[in-house]
Amino acid sequence: MYNVKIYGAGSIGNHLANASRRMGWDVTICDLDPAALQRTREEIYPARYGQWDESIQLCAASEAPREGFDLIFIGTPPDSHMNLAIQAIAEKPKAVLVEKPLCTPEMEKADELYSLARQTGVEVFVGYNHVVSSVADKAVELIPRLGAIETLDVEFREHWGGIFTAHPWLDGPQDSYLGFWQKGGGASGEHSHAINLWQHLAHSLGAGRVTEVDASLEYVKTDFVDYDKLCLLNLRTENGLVGRVVQDVVTQPARKWGRIQGKDGYVDITIGSEDHIHWQYGGNPKQEMVFKKTRPDDFIAELKHVEAILKGGQDTSSISLECGLDTMLIVAAAHLANGKGQRVKIDYAKGYSLEALTVAAKQ
Ligand SMILES: NC(=O)c1ccc[n+]([C@@H]2O[C@H](COP(=O)([O-])OP(=O)(O)OC[C@H]3O[C@@H](n4cnc5c(N)ncnc54)[C@H](O)[C@@H]3O)[C@@H](O)[C@H]2O)c1
Repeated sequence: MYNVKIYGAGSIGNHLANASRRMGWDVTICDLDPAALQRTREEIYPARYGQWDESIQLCAASEAPREGFDLIFIGTPPDSHMNLAIQAIAEKPKAVLVEKPLCTPEMEKADELYSLARQTGVEVFVGYNHVVSSVADKAVELIPRLGAIETLDVEFREHWGGIFTAHPWLDGPQDSYLGFWQKGGGASGEHSHAINLWQHLAHSLGAGRVTEVDASLEYVKTDFVDYDKLCLLNLRTENGLVGRVVQDVVTQPARKWGRIQGKDGYVDITIGSEDHIHWQYGGNPKQEMVFKKTRPDDFIAELKHVEAILKGGQDTSSISLECGLDTMLIVAAAHLANGKGQRVKIDYAKGYSLEALTVAAKQ
């Protein structure tokens, strides 16, 4: 059984608290805002999961206990993640899980976090839970049947009305980081699950890491907000795979979808209230599977993965710090490529900072 501390009593803080309790773990949630703690106890948790769980400790962030936690989860806005994660590592827990997007597109302190995690041996995970889902595992299992891979597409296109329904205390994007791309909001940050899933599938295909990013972003800039509502990316990996990622906060009904296209067949996945996969290869009939799930299942799968890694039952994690940092480099490259109107190359030898990005002429 683990003892868990969660920073942030918001939407994800409640999900992670509930999933932890279902794992039988002890939970303390802390927040800067007393209203968020009260809302967790009286509204969010009971409305989502039936009733408040009296065993969960709630406390002001300034009074949060600093010793004796096995796991520390950072479920706060992206521009606070780096400082909180660095502080969390100093407490020497078994692991820290930082929510996505890992940081802002400036990537400030990203390299520091990476070095610290390596020096201390504290496992750091990033909350891209879709890559540890059953549907993603099934897609990866089918890859060898598809022949040589032609291309890979992932889209997370979802109007963010749903996010505001889950946050009734917010009036709109102007009230949070969501309305500001530089704070980690906008389509590029909020729906970076798509970039991350593309990277995960590309690794699984043997295509390696993304080395070139071409981007077209559409920003909404007013006196109150400054965010990208559309983020269209063309990506090329070190082994020559070319594909596409689309993220937006305008599409309704939502479409969260991915396609691996091979010479001999394809795999198509759709993520939603239940996850679907269908595939066809070698002239065989089309097949499909449905993965029924509830929203809590998404986070239970994630925590089971964390537990398996910590217990040594699994060697590599697809939600590792490195994977989350790789995703942030693409988000940062997207804004740079769009701003310059040119392709951006990524040199991983330069570390996890903007220095890794170079603007290249269009071919
Ligand atoms: N993996 C997923 O599917 C998923 C789902 C929802 C949110 N998220 C991510 O989780 C993060 C938080 O999103 P949210 O929707 O829960 O936000 P939210 O606004 O609902 O909650 C964030 C909470 O963090 C608190 N906070 C801010 N700074 C703090 C600090 N230094 N210490 C303690 N508390 C602090 C705020 O007061 C607020 O209550 C974002 O990065 C978001 O992208 C991920």
